Amino acid sequence: MSGRAITFVFSLLAVFSNALTAVIQTQQTVLAAVGEDAELSCQLLETKDVLQVTWQKISHDVETNVATYSKYFGQRVNAGFRKKVEFKYTGLQNCSIVIRNVTEQDERCYHCLFNTYPEGSLTGKPCLQVYELHEPVVDVRESNSAEEWVVSCSATGRPAPTVTLSVSQQDLNFSQYNTVSVSNTNATFTVTTTAVLSGSRKHSTQVGCAARVLSAPLREVMVTIPEVQQTPDATENDFTWIIVLAVVLVVAVLLVILLVVKRDWISAVITAHFKQQNKTGDPEKTKTPPKSKQDIEKNKTPLIKHENEQLRQRTSTKKTPKNINRKASPSTAKRLFEED
Ligand SMILES: *[C@@H]1O[C@H](CO)[C@@H](O)[C@H](O)[C@H]1NC(C)=O
Ligand SMILES: *[C@@H]1O[C@H](CO)[C@@H](O)[C@H](O)[C@H]1NC(C)=O
Ligand SMILES: *[C@@H]1O[C@H](CO)[C@@H](O)[C@H](O)[C@H]1NC(C)=O
Ligand SMILES: *[C@@H]1O[C@H](CO)[C@@H](O)[C@H](O)[C@H]1NC(C)=O
Repeated sequence: MSGRAITFVFSLLAVFSNALTAVIQTQQTVLAAVGEDAELSCQLLETKDVLQVTWQKISHDVETNVATYSKYFGQRVNAGFRKKVEFKYTGLQNCSIVIRNVTEQDERCYHCLFNTYPEGSLTGKPCLQVYELHEPVVDVRESNSAEEWVVSCSATGRPAPTVTLSVSQQDLNFSQYNTVSVSNTNATFTVTTTAVLSGSRKHSTQVGCAARVLSAPLREVMVTIPEVQQTPDATENDFTWIIVLAVVLVVAVLLVILLVVKRDWISAVITAHFKQQNKTGDPEKTKTPPKSKQDIEKNKTPLIKHENEQLRQRTSTKKTPKNINRKASPSTAKRLFEED
């Protein structure tokens, strides 16, 4: 309460002390990007008996107290600025505040009042300028002509940024510049500069685009245009090679599968062939033995089974069918006849 009263009194005094402004050192314009923190500082160059330092925000000629610092009450940030403003350095000769996460609403002039006794208030008037600048976007298109490229670069910012194109290669030139500025709803501007890049390129070239707003650090983007040496054809060739390799691989795999299947199929054919030979060549084998001799029958049936098993084993081990025929069938036939 009393702090406010003092501020009010000294504010009144400030009106009469404009001539003393020169003794306060401050930055006339503080530049900060949207979302950044901005520091405002004031320094009283002459040693005075300062009772309090008061920070005010000026909106349309209306002064609003933001924060105060005094020996007796220390630092005080007013309710409406608690999350926005902090003291960075507090002193009665030197005082600074930080405005956090600046937005367009913070873009105002501020007053720092050094309330002295008996001279009255000494006022510094730093102003905050908030800018916005997004990274430029570059687009390079091949023109109808083989040695021409259409380069376009667009940057959004506030105030409207300037967009500059550059090229690394000496014998390449930009021409037919065209710049268009579009205002966005949030007070930013999107500036697009388009130009034709011409000349013969012997190696890959870097095209740069720089966007600048006020005296803020410029934002630059570099884009590399690859060599002319038929790069698209080369990649196409690479691609066809991949396809050819893939096809060859698939064919190879199919061949292997076919071979395996065919082997089994050959074996199957051989077996079938052999069985047929057995049927026609050795009819006794398949014939039922004489019913009168029961003990023979007992011995014979397992023999035939055994014989067939042997045959299957042989075919599965992929021995030549002729050998099997020669070795197996006559002997079994003989044995069968002998037993008979
Ligand atoms: C005031 O602040 C400035 C910069 O922040 C510094 O160079 C100077 O020494 C300070 N003066 C005092 C008296 O603290
Ligand atoms: C900064 O301010 C903007 C707009 O007021 C808000 O959306 C954002 O969350 C703030 N960021 C931080 C880190 O406080
Ligand atoms: C303002 O609008 C532009 C374009 O619509 C957008 O790129 C930019 O992020 C916006 N800025 C803010 C702070 O919202
Ligand atoms: C580009 O500019 C340079 C210097 O101004 C000039 O010597 C050169 O002939 C130009 N090249 C083309 C392709 O216009």
